[in-house]
Amino acid sequence: MQSKFYITTPIYYVNDLPHIGHAYTTIAADVLARYKRMAGYTVFFLTGTDEHGLKVEQAARDVGETPLQLANRVVKRFQTLWNELNISHDDFIRTTEPRHAETVCRFFQKIEANGDIYIGSYEDWYCVPCESFWTEMQLENGTCPDCHRPVEKVREESYFFRLSRYQEPLLAYYRENPEFIQPASRYNEIVNFVRQGLRDLSISRTSFSWGIPVPGTSHHIFYVWFDALLNYISALDYSTGGERFTTLWPADVHIIGKDIVRFHAVYWPAFLMSAGLPLPRKVFAHGWWTIEGKKMSKSLGNVVDPLYLSRQYGVDALRYFLLREVPFGLDGDYSHNAIIGRINSDLANDLGNLLSRTIGMLHKYHGGTLKETSTGGGRETMLRQHIAKVVKDVDAALEELAFHRALFSIWEYIGMVNKYIDESAPWILVKDRTKEHELATVLAHCVVALRKIAVLIAPFMPNSAQTMWQALAGEGSIFEQKMQDVVLWDSMPQGTRIEKIPALFPRIQNDGGV
Ligand code: MSP
Repeated sequence: MQSKFYITTPIYYVNDLPHIGHAYTTIAADVLARYKRMAGYTVFFLTGTDEHGLKVEQAARDVGETPLQLANRVVKRFQTLWNELNISHDDFIRTTEPRHAETVCRFFQKIEANGDIYIGSYEDWYCVPCESFWTEMQLENGTCPDCHRPVEKVREESYFFRLSRYQEPLLAYYRENPEFIQPASRYNEIVNFVRQGLRDLSISRTSFSWGIPVPGTSHHIFYVWFDALLNYISALDYSTGGERFTTLWPADVHIIGKDIVRFHAVYWPAFLMSAGLPLPRKVFAHGWWTIEGKKMSKSLGNVVDPLYLSRQYGVDALRYFLLREVPFGLDGDYSHNAIIGRINSDLANDLGNLLSRTIGMLHKYHGGTLKETSTGGGRETMLRQHIAKVVKDVDAALEELAFHRALFSIWEYIGMVNKYIDESAPWILVKDRTKEHELATVLAHCVVALRKIAVLIAPFMPNSAQTMWQALAGEGSIFEQKMQDVVLWDSMPQGTRIEKIPALFPRIQNDGGV
């Protein structure tokens, strides 16, 4: 049986339009999903939208729409964006779908039956933009410790989840599964947080109505985070005990941003423990992007639209930049100069140039057709052997979600192939009739190396990889190739045609604008 790999992104709030932060998480998840498919896993990749809660209700009121009208409008923006960014999700969950509400109610009944729910009175400080509750002590100068905006005092009847009961089981779980929360800095943060003690969690609201009603009550709706976290199982048809749930749960990795670790690494596992379900294998929190050195915010007017970037620079260049520029897990800065720098050096110079000089020479010297070759000498052996190391390094890096390291290692190989051409000097070989065989060998080695590179970059840059693959006489979709086979050096039959193609990554003039 094939191994399964279940990967998720957070579900995005519909009160905001998609921005580069959303694109970042989703592209990272897409790369991993594509890679795992090519490595032979049965992958299930889930994304979606978080459509309930006070923030959405307020945003809809501000624009004179019902919350559902707002959600229906904004969800299209996300779906269009994922389409343009070549996101290969297997399902898209909206929390306003019946399958989701059914799961939330069923799950609630299950943990209620296990004795983890009671009615109490709830008084706290609430930050509307973050949908977060804070104790008096957690406030910073009377404001939300996350976003430093004003908070409101709220008091209402509420259903509570006995989170306090799970302090010890959670700590034991973290101890036994140090890989559960990554990177390690987030792990330490969460362990310290839980060690300080857990209060029971209020999971219902009565002060507004945009949410899923708590079964058996007339005026309670579920707190948006209780509702939202359950998307990870409602998309698997938890409520009907479907096959998806049995075969796919637990998730292999939840990819999230650093601001929502507590919800995923404390509340979510506690809910699951209460329901007697297995816990996700890994929660990986990436860092945040600033824009030209500044925090991205509507008020600063510097929110970066990923659709604009993808149209401006190309979808693959954007995907490459986001994952190459900053180690996943750390914060990074987006700037016009940085993306153009990466495109011109890594994409146009290193990879684009390697492809165009190989195809160019093949056409100039051998009319675009491969001739009879041999295994060559030491340089060729090195090229053939080193690919095994690249495949191993890429696999190890992606296992740790170190996307930048995987790309670094592929680019090291691209550098080696460029150097191989310089050292073999086909432009000199072509002048000597006795070296024709040697010349054919060099050109064929470049072609095969480029085919390997195309397969390795396919999860990161799907369109460019497919274009390269076709030009280099690859058959069918490159996504049918198996990562494990990259180590096998293809023998390219004599007479194989290699097609000329326009520059894969044209250089971009830096006019200094944004
Ligand atoms: N709806 C919740 C998630 C529920 S998951 C059960 C939510 N939505 S969100 O739309 O506000 O944010 C989604 C993701 O975008 C978060 O992981 C967050 O970290 C990420 N980002 C928001 N701004 C970002 C940057 N400036 N940079 C990188 N990622 C950022 O939270």
